[in-house]
Amino acid sequence: MKVKIIFFSQTKNTRQIAQAIAEGISNRGAEVDLVDWLAIKDEPPEKILGNCDLLGIGTPVFFYQLPFCIRDWLRKFPSVSERPYFLFATYAVVVGTTFRDTDNMLRKKGWQLLDYAAFLGFGSYQAYLPWPRLSVQFPDAYEETKARQFGEFQVIKHVCFRNGKRNFLARPAKAPLSWRRKKMFLPKWMVNRIHPAFVLDTDKCIGCGTCAQCCPDSAITMVDNRPVFSGNCSRCYLCEKNCSQNAIMPDWNSFRKYVVRLYEEYPDYLKYSEELRDLYTKHPNHR
Ligand SMILES: Cc1cc2nc3c(=O)[nH]c(=O)nc-3n(C[C@H](O)[C@H](O)[C@H](O)COP(=O)(O)O)c2cc1C
Ligand code: SF4
Ligand code: SF4
Repeated sequence: MKVKIIFFSQTKNTRQIAQAIAEGISNRGAEVDLVDWLAIKDEPPEKILGNCDLLGIGTPVFFYQLPFCIRDWLRKFPSVSERPYFLFATYAVVVGTTFRDTDNMLRKKGWQLLDYAAFLGFGSYQAYLPWPRLSVQFPDAYEETKARQFGEFQVIKHVCFRNGKRNFLARPAKAPLSWRRKKMFLPKWMVNRIHPAFVLDTDKCIGCGTCAQCCPDSAITMVDNRPVFSGNCSRCYLCEKNCSQNAIMPDWNSFRKYVVRLYEEYPDYLKYSEELRDLYTKHPNHR
C-alpha cells in the first residue's frame, strides 16, 4: 500500500506531525512518501497525486480557516471516483472552519474522508508575538504519539475502505457560529487589507531572492535585485520569517493594538503568558 502525505508547513509544526503520522503508517507496513507542498505547488495536482492508494493532506490553520494558498490548490483537485484521503491540521488556538471547508470542497469531487485530526502547534502568527501563549510547548510528545496512532489508524481504515465498507467515513461537524463568523469577516482581500504593509529595509536586503522563492502565492517579484510585493499576497508572512537579513519589516505594532482585543477573549492565555515567555523564545520552532 502506497501513501502520499502532502503537507504545508512554515514553522515546522505541521512537518513534525506529518513525520509522526508517516512513522505510524510505516509501523503498519505501508510505504509513505512525504511531500513538502512548497516544493510541488506549481505542478498540476493530477501529476503529484499520481497513483497512490491513500492521500494525506496536512496544513496549519490560518485566520480561522485553511491557508488561502492551500484552499486554492485544493480547488484545482481533479474529480475522482471514490478516492480516500485523510486530513490533519496544526493550530495554536482555534481550528475554525478548516476541516469542514476541506471536506465540503473535496467531497463534491469524489474524495472520501477517512479521518481527520487537529494537533496543537507552537503559535506562529507574528501579530501575537509579544504575547507567548499556552501552545508554546507544542507539538509535544503527547501530540506526536497521537499523530503516530492516527497514522496507524489510517492504514486500518484504508483496509476497511478497500473492502467496501463506508459507514466509518468521517464528516467534520459544522464549526461553531462564532468561528464561522470570524472566518466570514476574513476573506483574502480583507486579510490583505487589514494587515500591515511590507516595509523593505534596503540597507539590509542583499537581493538573495529567498522571499520570492518561498512565497506560496508567487506574490513577490524580484526587480533590480529587490523584492516587489503584489496584491495577490495572502499575508502569511513566510517571506518575513525566511529573510535571513530581517530586511522585511511590516509594521506589526499598530496591528497588535487590534489583535490584543481578540487575545482578551482567551484570558487563560494572557494569565500564563508571562510565565511562558522564556519557554517560548527557547522553543526549537521559534524563528
Ligand atoms: C498568518 C497566520 C495565521 C494564523 N491563524 C491562526 C488561527 O486562526 N487559529 C489558530 O489556532 N492558529 C493560527 N495560526 C497559528 C498556526 O496555525 C500554528 O502555529 C500552526 O501550527 C503553524 O504550523 P506550521 O509550523 O506547520 O507552519 C496562524 C499562524 C499564521 C502564521
Ligand atoms: S529574503 Fe530578505 S535579503 Fe533576500 S531578497 Fe528577500 S528581503 Fe532581500
Ligand atoms: S508576499 Fe510574503 S506574506 Fe505575502 S503570500 Fe508571499 S510569503 Fe506570504
